[in-house]
Amino acid sequence: MTNSNRHEVQLSAEQIQSLWSAARSAQSKAYAPYSRYQVGVALLDENGDIHSGCNVENAAYPQGWCAEASALSAMVMAGASRVSAVLLVGSGSAWVTPCGGCRQKLREFAGPDTPIYSASAQTLGPVHTLGQLLPHSFGPDQLDSV
Ligand code: THU
Repeated sequence: MTNSNRHEVQLSAEQIQSLWSAARSAQSKAYAPYSRYQVGVALLDENGDIHSGCNVENAAYPQGWCAEASALSAMVMAGASRVSAVLLVGSGSAWVTPCGGCRQKLREFAGPDTPIYSASAQTLGPVHTLGQLLPHSFGPDQLDSV
């Protein structure tokens, strides 16, 4: 990955709090009648704006989608194109990290240094970079080289 894809960001405590509030609010809207596992995601974009989303399940189980997909859709619809930071909240006391497919979805708009904060309803959990969660990833720059 080239340096031009690096979007390092140092979040203030206030920004983290805003992300957490947005993720919690999104989580409260989750449609998860089958798993009962409600997820909320908040994304900070390149302009400092926050976009959020929840998981949306389906009676035909594989047709449901993750909170990350909803949040990314909200971000794209708002006209933003880079993810500077991510915060996820899951159900229960355990922290949640993005599923494999969502790591790839985030990779489209985020670089290896993008922080991904895990949280429970009560506390902030560990923070990983996207590069830690998805090493040696495939991204848009690969397609640029053909
Ligand atoms: N889920 C997410 O929304 N994001 C993830 O990264 C992990 C899983 C959702 C999908 C499903 O609705 C529920 O959590 C249980 O897997």
